[in-house]
Amino acid sequence: MGVPSPTRGAGTADTVGRMATTSVVTKKRHAWTTTVFIKQLMAVSGLFFVLFLLFHSYGNLKMFLGQEAYDHYAEWLKVDAFYPIFPKGGFIWVFRAAMILMLIIHVAAAAITWKRSRRARRSRYVVKKNAADSYAARTMRVTAVLLLLLIIFHILHFTTGTIRTGFIADSTPYERMIASFQEPWVVIVYLVFVGAACLHVAHGFWSAFQSLGWVRGGTRQFMVVLSGIIGGLIFVMFMAPPLAIAFGIIG
Ligand code: HEM
Repeated sequence: MGVPSPTRGAGTADTVGRMATTSVVTKKRHAWTTTVFIKQLMAVSGLFFVLFLLFHSYGNLKMFLGQEAYDHYAEWLKVDAFYPIFPKGGFIWVFRAAMILMLIIHVAAAAITWKRSRRARRSRYVVKKNAADSYAARTMRVTAVLLLLLIIFHILHFTTGTIRTGFIADSTPYERMIASFQEPWVVIVYLVFVGAACLHVAHGFWSAFQSLGWVRGGTRQFMVVLSGIIGGLIFVMFMAPPLAIAFGIIG
Protein backbone atom coordinates (compact mmCIF):
# COMPACT_ATOMS: atom_id res chain seq x y z
CA MET A 1 0.00 0.00 0.00
CA GLY A 2 1.30 3.40 -0.86
CA VAL A 3 4.12 1.85 -2.94
CA PRO A 4 3.68 2.74 -6.57
CA SER A 5 3.33 -0.16 -8.94
CA PRO A 6 6.11 -0.44 -11.53
CA THR A 7 3.70 0.75 -14.20
CA ARG A 8 2.39 3.68 -12.14
CA GLY A 9 5.91 4.50 -11.04
CA ALA A 10 7.15 4.48 -14.60
CA GLY A 11 4.20 6.62 -15.64
CA THR A 12 4.90 9.15 -12.92
CA ALA A 13 8.57 9.28 -13.75
CA ASP A 14 7.65 9.68 -17.39
CA THR A 15 5.26 12.54 -16.60
CA VAL A 16 7.86 14.24 -14.42
CA GLY A 17 10.41 13.73 -17.16
CA ARG A 18 8.11 15.26 -19.76
CA MET A 19 7.28 18.19 -17.46
CA ALA A 20 10.97 18.77 -16.92
CA THR A 21 11.56 18.65 -20.65
CA THR A 22 8.82 21.17 -21.41
CA SER A 23 9.75 23.57 -18.65
CA VAL A 24 13.53 23.39 -18.99
CA VAL A 25 14.19 22.83 -22.68
CA THR A 26 12.74 25.64 -24.80
CA LYS A 27 11.24 24.35 -28.04
CA LYS A 28 13.38 25.46 -30.95
CA ARG A 29 11.36 27.78 -33.16
CA HIS A 30 12.06 28.98 -36.66
CA ALA A 31 12.29 32.75 -36.97
CA TRP A 32 8.89 32.87 -38.67
CA THR A 33 7.10 30.97 -35.92
CA THR A 34 8.24 33.18 -33.05
CA THR A 35 5.51 35.16 -31.31
CA VAL A 36 7.40 38.37 -32.12
CA PHE A 37 7.35 37.66 -35.87
CA ILE A 38 3.69 36.57 -35.83
CA LYS A 39 2.74 39.79 -34.01
CA GLN A 40 4.70 41.77 -36.61
CA LEU A 41 2.73 40.05 -39.38
CA MET A 42 -0.49 41.01 -37.57
CA ALA A 43 0.80 44.59 -37.25
CA VAL A 44 1.76 45.03 -40.92
CA SER A 45 -1.47 43.47 -42.25
CA GLY A 46 -3.48 45.57 -39.76
CA LEU A 47 -1.78 48.79 -40.85
CA PHE A 48 -2.62 47.89 -44.46
CA PHE A 49 -6.31 47.81 -43.41
CA VAL A 50 -6.05 51.11 -41.53
CA LEU A 51 -4.76 52.74 -44.75
CA PHE A 52 -7.60 51.08 -46.66
CA LEU A 53 -10.19 52.43 -44.18
CA LEU A 54 -8.74 55.95 -44.38
CA PHE A 55 -8.85 55.79 -48.19
CA HIS A 56 -12.32 54.17 -48.34
CA SER A 57 -13.93 56.58 -45.85
CA TYR A 58 -12.32 59.60 -47.55
CA GLY A 59 -13.51 58.34 -50.97
CA ASN A 60 -17.08 57.98 -49.68
CA LEU A 61 -17.08 61.71 -48.81
CA LYS A 62 -17.43 62.28 -52.56
CA MET A 63 -21.14 61.61 -51.89
CA PHE A 64 -21.23 65.28 -50.80
CA LEU A 65 -20.08 66.35 -54.28
CA GLY A 66 -23.13 64.84 -55.98
CA GLN A 67 -24.06 61.90 -58.17
CA GLU A 68 -21.67 62.57 -61.03
CA ALA A 69 -18.61 62.93 -58.78
CA TYR A 70 -19.38 59.81 -56.74
CA ASP A 71 -20.27 57.57 -59.67
CA HIS A 72 -17.22 58.78 -61.53
CA TYR A 73 -15.03 57.96 -58.53
CA ALA A 74 -16.59 54.47 -58.23
CA GLU A 75 -16.06 53.89 -61.96
CA TRP A 76 -12.44 55.09 -61.70
CA LEU A 77 -11.76 52.62 -58.89
CA LYS A 78 -13.26 49.67 -60.72
CA VAL A 79 -12.10 50.40 -64.27
CA ASP A 80 -9.52 53.13 -64.71
CA ALA A 81 -7.39 53.05 -61.55
CA PHE A 82 -3.67 53.06 -62.38
CA TYR A 83 -4.27 52.44 -66.09
CA PRO A 84 -2.03 51.82 -68.07
CA ILE A 85 0.23 50.38 -65.32
CA PHE A 86 -2.61 47.89 -64.82
CA PRO A 87 -4.98 46.91 -67.64
CA LYS A 88 -8.49 48.43 -67.46
CA GLY A 89 -10.32 46.88 -64.52
CA GLY A 90 -7.10 45.16 -63.40
CA PHE A 91 -6.15 47.17 -60.33
CA ILE A 92 -9.30 46.32 -58.36
CA TRP A 93 -8.59 42.59 -58.73
CA VAL A 94 -4.97 42.96 -57.63
CA PHE A 95 -6.21 45.01 -54.68
CA ARG A 96 -8.90 42.43 -53.81
CA ALA A 97 -6.29 39.63 -53.91
CA ALA A 98 -4.03 41.71 -51.61
CA MET A 99 -6.94 42.30 -49.21
CA ILE A 100 -7.77 38.58 -49.05
CA LEU A 101 -4.12 37.69 -48.44
CA MET A 102 -3.81 40.34 -45.72
CA LEU A 103 -7.05 39.17 -44.10
CA ILE A 104 -5.84 35.56 -44.00
CA ILE A 105 -2.49 36.65 -42.48
CA HIS A 106 -4.22 38.94 -39.95
CA VAL A 107 -6.81 36.40 -38.78
CA ALA A 108 -4.34 33.48 -38.69
CA ALA A 109 -1.79 35.54 -36.73
CA ALA A 110 -4.50 36.66 -34.29
CA ALA A 111 -5.68 33.07 -33.78
CA ILE A 112 -2.12 31.81 -33.15
CA THR A 113 -1.34 34.66 -30.74
CA TRP A 114 -4.60 34.11 -28.86
CA LYS A 115 -3.98 30.35 -28.60
CA ARG A 116 -0.45 30.91 -27.31
CA SER A 117 -1.48 33.52 -24.74
CA ARG A 118 -4.27 31.22 -23.49
CA ARG A 119 -1.77 28.39 -23.09
CA ALA A 120 0.64 30.74 -21.32
CA ARG A 121 -2.11 32.03 -19.01
CA ARG A 122 -2.75 28.48 -17.84
CA SER A 123 0.85 28.30 -16.71
CA ARG A 124 1.31 29.58 -13.14
CA TYR A 125 4.63 31.17 -14.04
CA VAL A 126 2.99 33.87 -16.10
CA VAL A 127 2.46 37.25 -14.49
CA LYS A 128 -1.18 38.36 -14.74
CA LYS A 129 -1.84 41.19 -17.16
CA ASN A 130 -3.50 44.29 -15.82
CA ALA A 131 -7.28 44.78 -16.18
CA ALA A 132 -6.96 47.40 -18.93
CA ASP A 133 -4.90 45.02 -21.11
CA SER A 134 -7.35 42.14 -20.82
CA TYR A 135 -10.30 44.51 -21.41
CA ALA A 136 -8.63 45.71 -24.64
CA ALA A 137 -7.87 42.13 -25.72
CA ARG A 138 -11.51 41.12 -25.13
CA THR A 139 -12.75 44.18 -27.05
CA MET A 140 -10.46 43.24 -29.94
CA ARG A 141 -11.90 39.71 -30.12
CA VAL A 142 -15.53 40.86 -29.94
CA THR A 143 -15.07 43.62 -32.55
CA ALA A 144 -13.09 41.20 -34.78
CA VAL A 145 -15.93 38.67 -34.90
CA LEU A 146 -18.53 41.42 -35.46
CA LEU A 147 -16.37 42.90 -38.23
CA LEU A 148 -15.94 39.60 -40.07
CA LEU A 149 -19.70 39.03 -40.07
CA LEU A 150 -20.51 42.60 -41.11
CA ILE A 151 -17.87 42.62 -43.88
CA ILE A 152 -19.67 39.63 -45.41
CA PHE A 153 -22.97 41.55 -45.14
CA HIS A 154 -21.32 44.69 -46.58
CA ILE A 155 -19.92 42.91 -49.65
CA LEU A 156 -23.26 41.18 -50.32
CA HIS A 157 -24.92 44.58 -49.90
CA PHE A 158 -22.85 47.07 -51.89
CA THR A 159 -20.36 45.10 -54.00
CA THR A 160 -22.45 42.21 -55.31
CA GLY A 161 -25.89 43.78 -54.69
CA THR A 162 -27.20 40.41 -53.49
CA ILE A 163 -28.86 42.11 -50.50
CA ARG A 164 -30.85 45.03 -51.91
CA THR A 165 -32.13 47.79 -49.67
CA GLY A 166 -34.42 49.91 -51.81
CA PHE A 167 -32.26 49.81 -54.97
CA ILE A 168 -32.39 47.71 -58.12
CA ALA A 169 -29.70 45.72 -59.96
CA ASP A 170 -29.06 48.58 -62.40
CA SER A 171 -28.75 51.32 -59.76
CA THR A 172 -25.50 53.27 -59.83
CA PRO A 173 -23.24 53.31 -56.71
CA TYR A 174 -24.65 56.76 -55.76
CA GLU A 175 -28.25 55.55 -56.09
CA ARG A 176 -27.42 52.48 -53.98
CA MET A 177 -26.06 54.67 -51.20
CA ILE A 178 -29.05 57.04 -51.26
CA ALA A 179 -31.66 54.26 -51.31
CA SER A 180 -29.90 52.28 -48.58
CA PHE A 181 -29.42 55.00 -46.02
CA GLN A 182 -32.97 56.22 -46.34
CA GLU A 183 -33.82 53.04 -44.42
CA PRO A 184 -33.19 53.63 -40.66
CA TRP A 185 -32.28 49.97 -39.97
CA VAL A 186 -29.49 50.13 -42.57
CA VAL A 187 -28.07 53.24 -40.86
CA ILE A 188 -28.11 51.36 -37.53
CA VAL A 189 -26.37 48.31 -39.02
CA TYR A 190 -23.66 50.57 -40.47
CA LEU A 191 -23.31 52.43 -37.15
CA VAL A 192 -22.53 49.09 -35.50
CA PHE A 193 -20.25 48.05 -38.39
CA VAL A 194 -18.26 51.29 -38.51
CA GLY A 195 -18.26 51.51 -34.69
CA ALA A 196 -16.72 48.02 -34.45
CA ALA A 197 -14.14 48.87 -37.13
CA CYS A 198 -13.14 52.10 -35.39
CA LEU A 199 -12.88 50.55 -31.90
CA HIS A 200 -10.70 47.85 -33.45
CA VAL A 201 -8.50 50.49 -35.11
CA ALA A 202 -8.35 52.64 -31.98
CA HIS A 203 -6.63 49.83 -30.10
CA GLY A 204 -5.00 48.02 -33.02
CA PHE A 205 -3.13 51.02 -34.41
CA TRP A 206 -0.86 51.74 -31.45
CA SER A 207 -0.65 48.05 -30.62
CA ALA A 208 0.73 47.46 -34.15
CA PHE A 209 3.46 50.03 -33.58
CA GLN A 210 4.25 48.42 -30.27
CA SER A 211 4.63 45.01 -31.96
CA LEU A 212 6.99 46.61 -34.45
CA GLY A 213 9.05 47.89 -31.53
CA TRP A 214 8.41 51.54 -32.34
CA VAL A 215 6.70 52.48 -29.07
CA ARG A 216 8.98 53.55 -26.25
CA GLY A 217 7.99 54.65 -22.76
CA GLY A 218 7.82 58.31 -23.75
CA THR A 219 5.89 57.81 -27.00
CA ARG A 220 3.33 55.31 -25.70
CA GLN A 221 0.84 57.92 -24.48
CA PHE A 222 1.20 59.85 -27.75
CA MET A 223 0.53 56.71 -29.81
CA VAL A 224 -2.51 55.80 -27.70
CA VAL A 225 -3.98 59.28 -28.27
CA LEU A 226 -3.10 59.19 -31.99
CA SER A 227 -4.86 55.82 -32.34
CA GLY A 228 -7.99 57.26 -30.74
CA ILE A 229 -7.86 60.21 -33.13
CA ILE A 230 -7.47 57.96 -36.19
CA GLY A 231 -10.31 55.70 -35.02
CA GLY A 232 -12.51 58.77 -34.43
CA LEU A 233 -11.58 60.33 -37.77
CA ILE A 234 -12.48 57.16 -39.68
CA PHE A 235 -15.78 56.98 -37.78
CA VAL A 236 -16.72 60.57 -38.67
CA MET A 237 -15.66 60.23 -42.33
CA PHE A 238 -17.55 56.95 -42.80
CA MET A 239 -20.73 57.99 -40.98
CA ALA A 240 -21.04 61.50 -42.45
CA PRO A 241 -22.61 60.41 -45.80
CA PRO A 242 -25.09 57.87 -44.32
CA LEU A 243 -26.23 60.37 -41.66
CA ALA A 244 -26.48 63.18 -44.23
CA ILE A 245 -28.68 60.92 -46.37
CA ALA A 246 -30.78 59.80 -43.38
CA PHE A 247 -31.41 63.44 -42.41
CA GLY A 248 -32.16 64.49 -45.98
CA ILE A 249 -29.08 66.73 -46.36
CA ILE A 250 -28.01 64.84 -49.50
CA GLY A 251 -30.07 62.76 -51.90
C1 HEM B 1 -20.71 53.82 -43.70
C2 HEM B 1 -19.74 53.00 -43.98
C3 HEM B 1 -19.44 52.43 -45.34
C4 HEM B 1 -20.01 52.69 -46.56
C5 HEM B 1 -21.12 53.66 -46.88
C6 HEM B 1 -19.33 51.86 -47.52
C7 HEM B 1 -19.62 51.83 -48.87
C8 HEM B 1 -19.11 50.93 -49.78
C9 HEM B 1 -19.50 50.80 -51.14
C10 HEM B 1 -20.58 51.66 -51.81
C11 HEM B 1 -18.79 49.79 -51.68
C12 HEM B 1 -18.93 49.22 -53.08
C13 HEM B 1 -18.18 49.93 -54.11
C14 HEM B 1 -18.64 49.39 -55.44
O1 HEM B 1 -18.49 48.17 -55.64
O2 HEM B 1 -19.15 50.18 -56.21
C15 HEM B 1 -17.91 49.27 -50.66
C16 HEM B 1 -17.02 48.24 -50.83
C17 HEM B 1 -16.25 47.72 -49.82
N1 HEM B 1 -16.17 48.15 -48.53
FE1 HEM B 1 -17.22 49.64 -47.73
N2 HEM B 1 -18.38 51.10 -46.89
C18 HEM B 1 -18.42 51.41 -45.54
C19 HEM B 1 -17.64 50.89 -44.54
C20 HEM B 1 -16.73 49.89 -44.70
C21 HEM B 1 -15.94 49.31 -43.65
C22 HEM B 1 -16.01 49.76 -42.17
C23 HEM B 1 -15.18 48.34 -44.21
C24 HEM B 1 -14.20 47.41 -43.59
C25 HEM B 1 -14.09 47.16 -42.31
C26 HEM B 1 -15.49 48.30 -45.62
C27 HEM B 1 -14.94 47.43 -46.53
C28 HEM B 1 -15.30 47.35 -47.85
C29 HEM B 1 -14.78 46.34 -48.76
C30 HEM B 1 -13.77 45.26 -48.40
C31 HEM B 1 -15.37 46.59 -50.00
C32 HEM B 1 -15.19 45.78 -51.27
C33 HEM B 1 -14.23 46.44 -52.21
C34 HEM B 1 -14.28 45.66 -53.50
O3 HEM B 1 -13.59 44.65 -53.57
O4 HEM B 1 -15.03 46.04 -54.39
N3 HEM B 1 -16.43 49.26 -45.89
N4 HEM B 1 -18.12 49.99 -49.51
